[in-house]
Amino acid sequence: MSKIKKITCIGAGYVGGPTMSVIAQKNPDIDITVVDLNQARIAAWNDENLENLPVYEPGLDAVVREARGRNLFFSTDVNKAIAEADMIFISVNTPTKTYGKGKGQAADLKYIELCARQIAEVATSDKIVVEKSTLPVRTAEALKSILDHTGNGVNFHILSNPEFLAEGTAITDLHNPDRVLIGGESAEAIEALVQVYEAWVPRERILTTNLWSSELSKLVANAFLAQRVSSINAISELCEVTGANVEEVSKAIGQDSRIGSKFLKASVGFGGSCFQKDILNLVYIARSYNLREVADYWEQVILLNDHQKTRFAEKIIQTMYNTVNGKHVGFLGWAFKKDTNDTRESAAIYVADHLLAEEANVVVYDPKVTAEQIYKDLDYLGTRSPEDNRRLVRVVNDPYEALSGAHAAAVLTEWDEFKTYDWTRIKEDMKRPSFVFDGRKLLNRLELETLGFAYYAIGE
Ligand code: NAD
Ligand code: UGA
Repeated sequence: MSKIKKITCIGAGYVGGPTMSVIAQKNPDIDITVVDLNQARIAAWNDENLENLPVYEPGLDAVVREARGRNLFFSTDVNKAIAEADMIFISVNTPTKTYGKGKGQAADLKYIELCARQIAEVATSDKIVVEKSTLPVRTAEALKSILDHTGNGVNFHILSNPEFLAEGTAITDLHNPDRVLIGGESAEAIEALVQVYEAWVPRERILTTNLWSSELSKLVANAFLAQRVSSINAISELCEVTGANVEEVSKAIGQDSRIGSKFLKASVGFGGSCFQKDILNLVYIARSYNLREVADYWEQVILLNDHQKTRFAEKIIQTMYNTVNGKHVGFLGWAFKKDTNDTRESAAIYVADHLLAEEANVVVYDPKVTAEQIYKDLDYLGTRSPEDNRRLVRVVNDPYEALSGAHAAAVLTEWDEFKTYDWTRIKEDMKRPSFVFDGRKLLNRLELETLGFAYYAIGE
């Protein structure tokens, strides 16, 4: 198989955009077109002002500046991009199904299938089709069947190449991946993709496997990471009742090289578009093979995470004398983690929903999330009317305004800037007693208590 010259990526989201930007940056001789049905998103990727890119990621603007217009293009012309490409990445969303069989657990593969049908219809030359989206194990089989049955007699090779980047560190993760995983059946097709990554990734970090191991490894990697967070969060509750300190416990166990120190930070609960979705999918797959114990084991990771979010909201209510009705709670952070504008499944949404059910007044400040997004997240839950969400929630652009007159401050995201605020000034402007509920164990207890705050942190 000759060297790849043209790549198309379907899906210009949090994965497609940054991933293709880096592949283009490192392979100036390959033309890469990222396509999407969402016109506004493509327009934002093409915006002259790099502050308007649809995805906020540290370092992404510099990569786009280097490659865009040279060998990186963003377009809504999906058919043209498919027709011209030698290799097509599918990087569309694979959300949890909200209807029918597997509702609430299985991955919804309708966007993937639509892509496959479109590729089959348009392609008049051989293509390597790469699964970049996270998919249930054995999806490649279905893809291959659709491509072969509805295509124009051209050859399709399917590869699985799951993405392991984390948001907020996407560019460093892409520049320096722990590993790149490529699963496939055709040695030639695998080699073609290996060559793309070899432009910057050392060969020994490029793992090649069969299709099913690659597909399954992605779900398993996320399940293991999320399981660590749920494990330490379970211990955080035990710490709170025993006088142990979860940070000290994390450090003590993390120094054991067999355990390792990463992903042991107790929190208000993990969020993000993938951990929950991928574990639910794993649970669904296990159940569909009648592996009940396996399914129950992994489901517990999600149940514990739900418990952690509820527990944090309940702690706020109980501490504030069992009522937050009409009380002003200032939220610092809405994104599911720092350094991203992504709010999907953010713990903040669920904590807010819980407090709003008790008629609290929530005032939100997040450095990167828009008011429009915050209301959209709350409206999506459908717990109350959009009018009630707007009556109870205010979004501001200034952290001091979020906390001025507040009964309590709640830290939901670990943005670094929260640590640098003038907490003396905040204290003066808040009601007394001035509560701080730190869902990220971000702030300094001693400093805040010295200023007179009543400080509560997860796991202490
Ligand atoms: P996203 O929702 O940000 O982007 C998906 C894009 O695909 C959307 O812009 C949508 O308009 C577009 N799309 C859907 N169907 C299309 C079609 N038929 N033609 C053209 N465009 C279409 O999703 P994402 O966060 O980029 O995730 C994509 C996949 O990558 C998911 O499977 C996810 O599990 C996986 N993943 C995500 C991350 C992450 O950090 N977000 C990391 C690793 C893997
Ligand atoms: C995660 C994985 O880390 C990526 O490898 C994977 O590619 C991606 O999911 C995906 O498939 O979408 P991401 O969700 O972007 O990446 O971010 P993480 O850093 O994993 O954080 C997830 C959540 O766990 C965040 O809410 C974070 O605050 C929380 N977390 C993480 C903790 O509460 N404690 C920790 O110690 C680590």
